[in-house]
Amino acid sequence: MNATFRPGAALRGTLVPPPDKSLSHRAALLGAMSAEPVRVTNFLDAADTRSSLDAVRALGALVDARDTQWTSSPGIGGGELTIRGPGLRAATPGVAIDVGNAGTLLRLLPGWLAGQDGGSWTLDGDASIRRRPVDRVARPLAAMGAQLRARDDRFTPLEISGRPLQGIEYELPVASAQIKSCVLIAGLLAEGTTTVVEPEPSRDHTERLLARAGAGIVRDGARVAVTCQDELLLDAIRVPGDPSSAAFHAAAAVLVPRSRLVIEGMAANWTRVGFFRILERMGAVLLGDLEQREAAAPDAEPLCELDVVHGPLIGTRVTADEVPLAIDELPLVALLGCFAEGETVVEGAQELRLKESDRIATVVDGLRGLGADIEATADGFAVRGSGGLRGGVLHAQGDHRLAMLGAVAGLASRDGVEVVGMEAAAVSYPGFTADLAALTG
Ligand code: S3P
Repeated sequence: MNATFRPGAALRGTLVPPPDKSLSHRAALLGAMSAEPVRVTNFLDAADTRSSLDAVRALGALVDARDTQWTSSPGIGGGELTIRGPGLRAATPGVAIDVGNAGTLLRLLPGWLAGQDGGSWTLDGDASIRRRPVDRVARPLAAMGAQLRARDDRFTPLEISGRPLQGIEYELPVASAQIKSCVLIAGLLAEGTTTVVEPEPSRDHTERLLARAGAGIVRDGARVAVTCQDELLLDAIRVPGDPSSAAFHAAAAVLVPRSRLVIEGMAANWTRVGFFRILERMGAVLLGDLEQREAAAPDAEPLCELDVVHGPLIGTRVTADEVPLAIDELPLVALLGCFAEGETVVEGAQELRLKESDRIATVVDGLRGLGADIEATADGFAVRGSGGLRGGVLHAQGDHRLAMLGAVAGLASRDGVEVVGMEAAAVSYPGFTADLAALTG
């Protein structure tokens, strides 16, 4: 599906962003691992999180979605679910799981399955998933005693045979919340203590949820440790609005003259709002209470309201320590850089090459095709502000965030942007185009 986004219309009004994707995946998985039924409110109804619900259903969970207003196609807004799972150690064995396009499901699920002795499972997904590495989780799980087999030792299909696990201390080779979460979840089923050491902080939703579930999780600086659990006890989870989705509208509001946007109910977790800090540093005027690192909630997900207005930007340098806190929003930093005075550089972001597309290549090619002065580096990109963007055609390459990037670029461009493959947005944000139309209408 092609969609054209024309310049000019300011964004005005209030956005309630869709429910957070990361937390919805975790609610489905940890909900299924819980000993008691877990009620989830504001669960994201999108292609990715439907894959997680399908996966936990295949593994024996009953998902009661009676209260939702879900339609047969991925819809808009959040749903209410009750998940009655098989618990920590009784996932239905012998099933093949299709993770679709969902990297988070692909990386977290093996952590639960690997410690269930005697069971075996196969994980596979779409063409994009088949290019994304799973050795990053297979390696620590194998060190804990699990048996895994991946195509070329690196890709799906991934076969998992559950074994008794031993706790390990694992130093993450990259700052990845997916790998961290996988090892911590496996640690719930492993003998002794499992410790993960992070090179830089990454999103900590799994830790906060495990703390809520009484899982005896302890953080000490860069180290986070869990011990073996008989059971998990989560009660209710309310998923906050997704900052990674809200970031698109926030960027559009900053770029399009006369815009003023209020964002309500967005997750304020400091490990997720790095993009908004970068935006502020570039000179944007933002009002709102983002969580401060020093005052981080140990087991809750705080919400915030943000007020964003149009204004001029200056270039900035995004360094490796900031990358995990803004990883999915870095394509937007490239776009903002086109409109900023001076140069904008993102470094230490080689992980972008392993996302739904090679986001260094697809962002650089996509924006250059619209007139940007941008070049790829080994670990990021460099953009010279050129006072705006001409516009043109951008191919989403099956990547939801690239599709939405093209839309925002179109609103801010001189001639508009035609996005080829706009349907990709439904992976995380099925209502994206409708929300944008409501704000610009
Ligand atoms: C996610 C972590 C990040 C992020 C992804 C979601 C998560 O990936 O890019 O969209 O939910 O844990 P990495 O952990 O691989 O950096």
